[in-house]
Formats: sequence, structure tokens, C-alpha cells
Amino acid sequence: MPKVAVLPGDGIGIDVTREAVKVLECLDERLSLDLSIHHFDHGAQKYLDTGVTLPDEDLEVIASHDAIYLGALGDPRIPDMRHGRDILLGMRFKLDLYVNHRPVRLLHPDLCPLKDRGPDDIDMVFFRENTEGAYVGAGGIFKKGTPDEVAIQEDINTRKGVERIIRHAFEYAKANGRKRVCMADKSNALRFGHDIWKRVFDEVSGEYPDIEPSHYFVDALCMQLVLEPQEFDVVVSCNMFGDILTDLAAALQGGLGVASSGNVHPGGNALFEPVHGSAPPLAGKDQANPFAAMITAQMMLDHLGLSEAANLIEKAIRNALLEGKTTADLGGSLGTAACGDDIVSRIRAETAG
Ligand code: NAD
Ligand code: IPM
Ligand code: MN
Repeated sequence: MPKVAVLPGDGIGIDVTREAVKVLECLDERLSLDLSIHHFDHGAQKYLDTGVTLPDEDLEVIASHDAIYLGALGDPRIPDMRHGRDILLGMRFKLDLYVNHRPVRLLHPDLCPLKDRGPDDIDMVFFRENTEGAYVGAGGIFKKGTPDEVAIQEDINTRKGVERIIRHAFEYAKANGRKRVCMADKSNALRFGHDIWKRVFDEVSGEYPDIEPSHYFVDALCMQLVLEPQEFDVVVSCNMFGDILTDLAAALQGGLGVASSGNVHPGGNALFEPVHGSAPPLAGKDQANPFAAMITAQMMLDHLGLSEAANLIEKAIRNALLEGKTTADLGGSLGTAACGDDIVSRIRAETAG
């Protein structure tokens, strides 16, 4: 019985997770998946009410599930994102989820904002290092609020951390018939922290003679992803650049409303979440696109070995896109809940009889 922990989080995280869970429950019923879904309320409201973010004992319970599903975190009432750092970055770091896997595929030609680009051009997989870099919280502020203020945020890059994500990118390429791995850094300017990325990439790529390596400085890669997206297959980068590159890449596939991700420790815990945030202006208004949340559920089902169920989600979304049954960000006129109901009815029709 696969056990799934669900944390809807904040803002539209709550709106879209409701729809993704609806889809999971429908698949569970139709395909007898025997899913056991447990709900957790860690997020902004709980923090504001109780001061609790994510205590270790709760993390332990959540981590005992076969997969974790997170909506999004972020609330304007908590401007320093204290709860988000504890919950989201807390799970990434404490569970050592070093692979942030962000696939980018164009599910319908009209979704790509680039001229003359289609599904064959936009088909890549990003691996973002997820446990190091500028995100580790090493640093401090001295003389805060004075004219002499000093703010230091260290960028931590370890041999182990850099090597394991680069190796994962090559292993993924090898196992999935992908032919090219591109690494983006800023080793021309960051002669310590990113020199190690370049050296390790050169070393590890030598072990995979059948896979073509390429190296870009991240600024040039941003340009190239827009101009020639078809050149890219697997892309690996550090934590911060991976964050930025994957919002850019999300735009190539139709926007944050369709971008999914998995945070994984291979052989260990896995946490799935849409790439998008809590979009406070849309929260609770039945406007957010739930497709990213559903495609995230699809990734989670694939991870759990439930590929038949996973494929049904993708098929239903592809058909909904063909018929324009989408939320407004994709040009349709459905609300979040109606969009969820539409996908559920497609899955019901597909599994009838
Ligand atoms: P955002 O992703 O919430 O929104 C960026 C833009 O995309 C907005 O215009 C928004 O309306 C649109 N958008 C995002 N998801 C959408 C969807 N499903 N349907 C339709 N439109 C969608 O990013 P932001 O505005 O920079 O951040 C808002 C909050 O979310 C912040 O607190 C931020 O820290 C947080 N955040 C959390 C996560 C996470 O928990 N994984 C990720 C990114 C941002
Ligand atoms: C993401 C988000 C987070 C990140 C924020 C909310 C800390 O942007 O998951 O992409 O930067 O990792
Ligand atoms: Mn991001």
C-alpha cells in the first residue's frame, strides 16, 4: 500500500493540491492502487497560529511515507519566508534530497511562446543541485540597518555534492536514451566555487563516452535556451542557477502552470511539488492552473512504479489541451475546480468498462 504524505502548503498550493488529490483519488478508485493519502497542515497558517513550522518529530512521520507531495509555500504575512525555509528547504536538506528533477516538455504546440517551435524542440530534463550552494544559509549580517551594514551569504560547493548531481545527470541520460548533457556554471567569474563544477564535469563526462557533454556559462545558456532550445537534452546546474533556469524553461513549455518537479534522494525519500509558488494574487480565487500539480502527481506515481496511472494523467491533460479545456493562463475559461473535474471525468471515461 503506497503511503503518500500531502502538504498543500499556502496560497494556490492549497487550490491546486485539492485538484491533484481529486485526480489521485479517482485513479486510486479506478485502478485499485491501494493508495493511502495522509494530509498534513504545515504551512503559513499553522505557523501564524502556533509558531510551529516543521518540528523534527513531524518531519520523521512525513518522511516515513513512500512519497511526499507539497503544494507551494509563501505567504505575504510572513515576508521573511521563515516557515518556507524550515519546511521546504528543511525537507530538501534534512532528507538530503540532492536531485531536483525538473522535466520540460511541450504538451501542446500552442503553449510555446517561441516562434516556429514545437514539441520536438522543447524536450529536456533539468537537474538542479538541491542541497548546497548559496541556499545552505551560511553567512550573517553585521551592523544591520546601519550605513556600515555587511551581508554575507556563502556559496558552498563540495566535491561530493557537485559530483553526485553531475553523475546523476549522466546516469539519467544513459538510462533514458538521452544523448547530451549540458552543465551551466559561472566558472569564468567564480574562480573557486564554480571552478570545481567545471573540473568535476570534465572528469565525470569522460566516463560516459556515448554522451556528448557541453558546457555553458549560465548567462549564455539563458540566451541559448530561448534561441535554440532543441540543442538541449539534459541540463545540470547548481542550486541557484537551477532555480532560475527552470523558471525560464517553464516558460518554454507553457508557463509555471504546467511545470512539475521531484526532489529526490535516489533510493531514499522523494518529495514532489510544482515548480510554481503560492501566487498570492490568485490564491483562493479558483483561477490557478492545476495542471502543474497534476503533472507533479504523475511524476510521483511514476516514482512509485504506478506508470499506468501516471500515463492516464498525461493523456487526460493532453486531450484537455487539444480541446482548450484549460484555465485562463493557457487561454481557456475554466476555473481551477472545473479544470480538475474535467480531468477526472476524462480519466473516468478512459477507465470505464
Ligand atoms: P509564483 O510562481 O507564485 O508566481 C509567478 C507568476 O506565475 C505569477 O504571475 C503567478 O500568477 C503565475 N503562476 C504561478 N503558478 C501559476 C498557476 N498554477 N496558474 C496560473 N498562474 C500561475 O512566484 P512568485 O510570485 O515569485 O512567488 C510567490 C510566493 O511563492 C513567494 O512567497 C515565493 O517565495 C513562493 N514560492 C514558493 C515555491 C515553492 O514552495 N515551491 C516556489 C516558488 C515561489
Ligand atoms: C523553487 C522555489 C524555492 C527555491 C523558494 C521558494 C525558496 O523558488 O522551489 O523553485 O528557490 O528553491
Ligand atoms: Mn523557483
